[in-house]
Amino acid sequence: MSDPLWLELRATGRLAGRPAIYYETVDSTNTAAMALGRQGAASGTVVVAEQQSAGRGRLARQWLSPPGCGLYFSLLLRPHLAPEELARITLAVGVAVCRALEQTTALAPQLKWPNDILLHGGKCGGILTEAEFPGNDQPPLVVVGIGLNVTTPAAALPVTLRQKATSLFIDSGRHHHRGALLLAICREIDRIMEQLVAGDFGTLLAEWRQRDGLAGQRLAWLTPQHTVVHGVSLGPDQSGALSIRDDAGTIHTVISGDISLAAPSP
Ligand code: BTN
Repeated sequence: MSDPLWLELRATGRLAGRPAIYYETVDSTNTAAMALGRQGAASGTVVVAEQQSAGRGRLARQWLSPPGCGLYFSLLLRPHLAPEELARITLAVGVAVCRALEQTTALAPQLKWPNDILLHGGKCGGILTEAEFPGNDQPPLVVVGIGLNVTTPAAALPVTLRQKATSLFIDSGRHHHRGALLLAICREIDRIMEQLVAGDFGTLLAEWRQRDGLAGQRLAWLTPQHTVVHGVSLGPDQSGALSIRDDAGTIHTVISGDISLAAPSP
C-alpha cells in the first residue's frame, strides 16, 4: 500500500518540510533524539524508525518494535517550561495523539494515566517523555517518544500481551497510513506545546479528562514501595499527578508506579 509521506520521509529525510531523521533500524528513537539534542539539533526535529532493536517504555519496560506495522518516533523539544511543569507534557501529548487519531481515522481513542493510548480498553500506543537540563539558563532538552501499533495483526502480538494490547487495524479492521498519522501527531504536538508554554494547561487537562478511559473506575495502584492501594480514580490534577481516593477516603497523589483496573468491591 503506497504511503506517500512515509516514502518522502525515507527518500528525503524530511516530513512535509520539517527536519526528520529516518532509520531503518535504531536501538531507540528516544536515545537517538536525545543524542542529537545534546549535539544541538533544532527543536521540532523528529527521529523516526522502521524498527527499534531496544525500544523502551515507561518503568524500564521493553517496547516491541517490529518493522512494517508500527509507528516509532521521537520529537525533540526545547520548551520554556519549569522542571515542575514537565510532567504535564506527557498528558498534553496524549491529547495531541488522540486529536490526530480523531482527525485522520474514524477511531475514538481514550487515555490511561499517565501515558497509554487506548482503543476499546486495549493499549495501542504509549508515550515516553525524557528530559535533561543543560543548565546556563537554557531550556530543558525534552524528548517525547511515541509508539503506536498501526497495522499490527492480532497474531503478531505476543500471546502474553493479547489481552491488553491492540492496534489501529485490530480495532477498526482498516489499514492506516503511518506517514499521515505521523504528520498529524507532530502538528498537534506543535499546537499543544504552544498552549503549554503559554500557560494554558487547564484547557488541555479538561480535554484529557474527556478522554479518560479510567474516570471513576476502581483502580489498583502498585506503589514504588511495592504496596498496593485500592481506590477510585479522580483523574489527573494541575501538576499532572493522578488522584486516587482509597477505600478509607484518603486521597493519594500518584506521581509514579503502575495503575491497573481493580476488581469491583464486594
Ligand atoms: C510506554 O507505553 O511505556 C511508552 C512506550 C513508548 C515507546 C516509544 S517507541 C518510540 C520511542 N522510542 C522508544 O524507545 N520508546 C518510545
